[in-house]
Amino acid sequence: MSAAGKLAIIGWPVAQSRSPLIHNHWLVARGEEAVYQAYPIDPQDDFRQALQHMAASGFVGANVTAPHKEAAFSAVDVLSAAAQTLGAVNTISFQNGQMVGANTDGAGFVASLDEAAQGTGWRARPALVLGAGGAARAIVAALDHAGVTDIRLVNRTRAKAEALSGLAENMQIEDWHACPDMADGCGLMVNTTSLGMVGKPPLALPEAVFAALSPEALVCDIVYAPLETPLLQAARAAGHVGVDGLGMLLHQAALSFEIWRGTRPQIDTALRDKLIADLTQEG
Ligand code: ATR
Repeated sequence: MSAAGKLAIIGWPVAQSRSPLIHNHWLVARGEEAVYQAYPIDPQDDFRQALQHMAASGFVGANVTAPHKEAAFSAVDVLSAAAQTLGAVNTISFQNGQMVGANTDGAGFVASLDEAAQGTGWRARPALVLGAGGAARAIVAALDHAGVTDIRLVNRTRAKAEALSGLAENMQIEDWHACPDMADGCGLMVNTTSLGMVGKPPLALPEAVFAALSPEALVCDIVYAPLETPLLQAARAAGHVGVDGLGMLLHQAALSFEIWRGTRPQIDTALRDKLIADLTQEG
């Protein structure tokens, strides 16, 4: 694989993305010139044509964010297994005239849990997923792939939850009010809803939910604006391990970088500090 060539994050809008900060940190660390840029594509435009234009103008890879992950799935020539399962692509490589689509969101999530868990056996315990949007899709599939056999999911709209049931064998789906029961013995609870994001109401769960979790449970909020959500504060106050959205953001990025450049970049303290400074400056 060529060590040169431009990289980008495709989205609409895309200026808010932290991916250029992350990937340019790694490119500079490798002695490459920073060539990862924000690349807006209007959803009205022909997406495949826009990708062909990128390939012709020297791009070797791109990340894809909202609202284009499904369009990217349909536009590429070849799909990784994860992208195939999810019907969504977050990483494209332009290789020998072909567009190859992958999805590193789920594996990035699992890597961030492993980093936070430090050897505790979250995989062997039940996992509770809150929400049933695109992020929940990637997470449910990744948990199933990681060997979690008891996956439970609650969502405001039941039909959307049921649409995810094919992603994991025997997934248990319940309404929101069943949270305390569903949390029983869980080694992981993850919020994938938009509640708790900047500008949205907080996700307020009854204390009974935290009490029902396994004592060393990981409680994860995948949002990173803000980094410290009321959910994480409540989880830490109850003695659980809070996992913020920074880990998933960094690990999915590292896995994309590895696809393009062939080596997994280091997630070092300098990068984390840079990212936290950037996020808190706006938050
Ligand atoms: P993403 O693709 O980022 O996961 P999404 O597809 O818009 O985002 O999904 C948002 C999730 O947040 C959904 O699970 C949504 O619940 P519904 O399926 O019922 O819409 C959840 N959500 C958003 N606002 C909510 C609220 N006020 N209360 C409960 N759940 C909410």
